[in-house]
Amino acid sequence: MEIIIQPDLHSGTELGARIMEALIRTKPNAVLGLATGSTPVALYCELIRMHREEGLDFSQLTTFNLDEYVGLSAKHPASYHRFMQENLLSHVNIRHDRIHIPDGMTEDIPTFCRDYEAAIVKAGGIDLQLLGIGHDGHIGFNEPSSSLGSRTRIKTLTENTVAANQRFFSSEEKVPLHVITMGVGTIMEARTCLLLAFGKGKAEAVAAMAEGPITAMCPASILQMHPHAILIVDEAAASQLKRADYYRHVYANKPPFQHREMQKPNFIASHSELTQ
Ligand code: GLP
Repeated sequence: MEIIIQPDLHSGTELGARIMEALIRTKPNAVLGLATGSTPVALYCELIRMHREEGLDFSQLTTFNLDEYVGLSAKHPASYHRFMQENLLSHVNIRHDRIHIPDGMTEDIPTFCRDYEAAIVKAGGIDLQLLGIGHDGHIGFNEPSSSLGSRTRIKTLTENTVAANQRFFSSEEKVPLHVITMGVGTIMEARTCLLLAFGKGKAEAVAAMAEGPITAMCPASILQMHPHAILIVDEAAASQLKRADYYRHVYANKPPFQHREMQKPNFIASHSELTQ
């Protein structure tokens, strides 16, 4: 796993966006795996800016989202369909028929999940899967104890995840207990996994996933087995990493040809500015 420690959320986000940009420019018909949560919002904002100001073209891309709540329609304000439209998809020139997000209203979840897996295969597999991490080490909605070989399926959220995600719902509304999520095995088949984590609240999960044992109790730890996993963290999220100095040393001495994504000037506009 390549572990890159950046000073703060802005520089970490900028680097993550440049990695995605490099893929999109070299492979305009790439298949992207997208994530929700607060972590990727600034990165999506930067991709929107690149689309508007630097001609980043989304017209040939295909996307697959990690997960969705069961029982929420695409129009529900807290649905991941809505989140993706508001934070990225409605602001770029992506074709609607190439956007895939699990359908929380499907009447036949097992069939839907099998079809979702088949659609990923048909699209050629995911080139880059963007990920955040839950405080308990979950990726997508693969809670601790998820099979490390799991595929897209229904999952039951833990009380902690329900509590953490309550902020996206109005106060009296309940977070759904069930979700459809890509499996850990599905995520592991992406050619590149790019996980972002920022803030002190993620420090324990980051240390467990990167330096702890590979275990279903921390599903993100399976990324230690991925041939091309990149972890970008800020100083706060890196604060419990035992080998932080080594990761800094590796990154500082990275051969120049591996730094292609860093060659452009950096600027992140505010999200509200870009989504007006
Ligand atoms: C949810 C999402 C995950 C996300 C996690 C962390 O559980 N399903 O994909 O990584 O939240 O969210 P945040 O980035 O808001 O901390």
